[in-house]
Parts: sequence; C-alpha cells; structure tokens
Amino acid sequence: MQATSVVHRHFLGGDAPTFSSLRPKPIPTTTTSFAIRMSLREDAPSLAVVGVTGAVGQEFLSVLSDRSFPYRSIKMLASKRSAGKKLTFEDNEYVVEELTADSFNGVNIALFSAGGSISKEFGPIAANCGSVVVDNSSAFRMDDGVPLVIPEVNPDAMSHIKLGSGKGALIANPNCSTIICLMAVTPLHQRSKVLRMVVSTYQAASGAGAAAMEELELQTREVLKGKKPTCKIFKQQYAFNLFSHNAPVLSNGYNEEEMKLVKETRKIWNDKDVKVTATCIRVPVMRAHAESVNLQFANPLDEDEAREILKKAPGVVVIDDRVVNNFPTPLEVSNKDDVAVGRIRRDVSQDGNYGLDIFICGDQIRKGAALNAVQIAEMLL
Ligand SMILES: NC(=O)c1ccc[n+]([C@@H]2O[C@H](COP(=O)([O-])OP(=O)(O)OC[C@H]3O[C@@H](n4cnc5c(N)ncnc54)[C@H](OP(=O)(O)O)[C@@H]3O)[C@@H](O)[C@H]2O)c1
Repeated sequence: MQATSVVHRHFLGGDAPTFSSLRPKPIPTTTTSFAIRMSLREDAPSLAVVGVTGAVGQEFLSVLSDRSFPYRSIKMLASKRSAGKKLTFEDNEYVVEELTADSFNGVNIALFSAGGSISKEFGPIAANCGSVVVDNSSAFRMDDGVPLVIPEVNPDAMSHIKLGSGKGALIANPNCSTIICLMAVTPLHQRSKVLRMVVSTYQAASGAGAAAMEELELQTREVLKGKKPTCKIFKQQYAFNLFSHNAPVLSNGYNEEEMKLVKETRKIWNDKDVKVTATCIRVPVMRAHAESVNLQFANPLDEDEAREILKKAPGVVVIDDRVVNNFPTPLEVSNKDDVAVGRIRRDVSQDGNYGLDIFICGDQIRKGAALNAVQIAEMLL
C-alpha cells in the first residue's frame, strides 16, 4: 500500500483515525515558523474552511500553510458532529465550529468542501454575506455565471471577480478527474485543437473522502486475515478488486462522474463541439488518480513535439522513459502539486500525426481539489 499524507493530520489527538500505513509527511519547523510570520497578517483576508475535518478540508490547511497563504483569521467549520473538536494550524489552536447561516459574517474567502447539498444551501448565503466562495462540489459547476476555473487553463474566466469589492461571488472548482486531465491535455489542445478525447480513469479511494480511505485500509487488513470485508461506503469489496465508479448511473448509461468530464471540458475550453467520452473506474489505490487519454486532433502533432510542449507546461512534469519502462504512477504523484504525464505515443489506429495516447497521474486531493481551489483564491489577492 502506498504512503500518503493528510487525513486528520491537524488534529490534536482525540478521535483521529489510525492510518498506520499513511503517515503524514512532516512539515519542517522552519517552514512552519516562516509561514506563521508571513501568513498571519492584519491586512490579509479572513478565511473560512467549510468541511475542514474531511479529506479535502485537511488538505486545504496543508496547502494554505505550504504556500504561506496570507490570512487575518481563519474559521474552521464542519458539521455539528465535529463542533468543539480542537485542531492546530500553523501552531495555533482552533476549535471547530458548527456551520450555520451566521458563519460567514466578515469572511472574505470561503473554501467549501462539505458536499453538494451543503454547498447549495450555504454557498449562496456566504456569497450574500460578501464572501467569495470557492466551491469543490459539483453544485454550481454548470451554472451560467459561475466560473469553472483551472488557474493554468482558464484564469480569465474569473477576472471579473474582485476581493474587497464588497460583492460576494461563487467560483467552482472542476471535478478532480477533469482538472488532472485538462492540465495535461490543454497545452496540446492549444497547439493542435482536440476534436475528440477518450478518457479511461483509474480513481483512488481518496476521491471518495476520508471514510473511503479508512474502508480500503480496513478491508485490506480484513481480507489478508481471511475475514469478510466490511462494506459501508461502497456496496462491493474494494480491496483487491476494482469496479465502475460509484457515482449514480444516468439514463444514457454513463455515470455522473463520466458526464462531468464531458460537460466540464466543454465549459472550461469554451468549446461546445469538442467530443469527449469517458469510462470511470474506482481502483484500490489509496491516493491519486490515473487516466489513460486518447486524443484526436484537427491539426497534426507528432509525439516529440507533444513531449516538448508538455515539458514546458506549467504544473506538468513528464515521466516518459521507454528504455527502463518508467512512467507516472499514483504513488509517485501523491502529495505532489504537479500532474505527471507519460506513455506519450502516436495513436497507430489513426493516419498520420492526428492522434496521440497519453497516461496522466495526479493527486486529486491536492491539484484535483485543495491546491486548485487555493490557487483560485490566490488569484483574488
Ligand atoms: N476527495 C476528493 O478528492 C475530492 C476532490 C474534488 C472534490 N471533492 C468534493 O469535496 C467535498 C468533500 O469531499 P471529501 O472527500 O473531503 O469528503 P469527506 O472526507 O467525507 O469530508 C466531508 C466534510 O464535510 C463535512 N460535513 C458533512 N456534513 C456537513 C454538514 N451538515 N455541515 C457542515 N459540514 C458537513 C464533514 O464534517 P464532519 O467531519 O463534521 O462530518 C467533513 O468535514 C465533496 O463535495 C467532494 O465531492 C472531493
């Protein structure tokens, strides 16, 4: 099982889960002290993290700290179940508060990751209070007037939203698989225009939240001991297995996760004609998604030029060593900001240089969720 960081790393003991194989990466003391000096400032925005006890919420705290995001104050919000729990952030102790309609008074930026129904209820309340909401759920992604933003791809979509204008706003973070895919594919699209994209995903437990990660670890132990695996989050055995993504299946046979890739790509690229199809699979990897992507272009693009374009793309690293068969893996990108791309090769089923196959891995809690949202927040500063 791979090593990974995060879940509940900011808790002061209490009932934090015991992820024995998932030790958090230590934050060096010097970095933390530097972050405190630079980040906690009277002239900086006040923040709220909604869903702070969850997988993405905990990663928000890590990313804010790692990037020395400036803040005047920070509210830690979760459900009634977590109210009163203590956590530390940058050496200060905070008490988790229950999310209510009064939570957003004086909050400039609210980072939401508590699920779609919570976003639908409290996102507009926060925006009406003057907060700029960066929302990780799917609640507003396809709404006209709500920018759907990957900072490296379409920063202009949110250029009309200003912090300090007194007006609140909603900004949506795309689905994690969409972010990881478009980080690598957009630079190629900008060069040769993608006409059609076929995506197959291999999605980690962390994409389904902290409880799913716990279930995978528990099931792995149970199966190795010959016991019947406990299935609470997923209907079927997850350890030593894989299955079609657990999102609801729609009348067209696609599941919601697959249709997010289709619709969000069109909105982010502002290209209603691009053809996208996807098959999303949950695999027993603890953290970080992988995606196999087949591309068809309007203009020719050979694999060497594609590799050079990807090497220069922001937030992308190329791992593509055919000689020693070394390509991206979920383990290698776990806890990393960059998306890794490899297996870059001409699609032999298409004539000329009009098709490419690539393989992408990205940490979907980080670039697929918390990091992307914090980068959006940084563009507001
Ligand atoms: N995991 C990912 O990779 C990923 C990627 C992109 C987007 N997202 C989206 O981010 C959101 C959170 O995902 P996650 O993986 O972090 O889930 P998670 O680990 O299950 O965490 C859920 C969080 O929501 C809070 N919450 C639940 N009910 C609440 C309520 N009634 N009021 C206030 N807070 C409430 C929980 O608080 P308690 O601890 O108090 O229950 C917890 O902090 C989802 O919308 C998900 O689709 C996740």
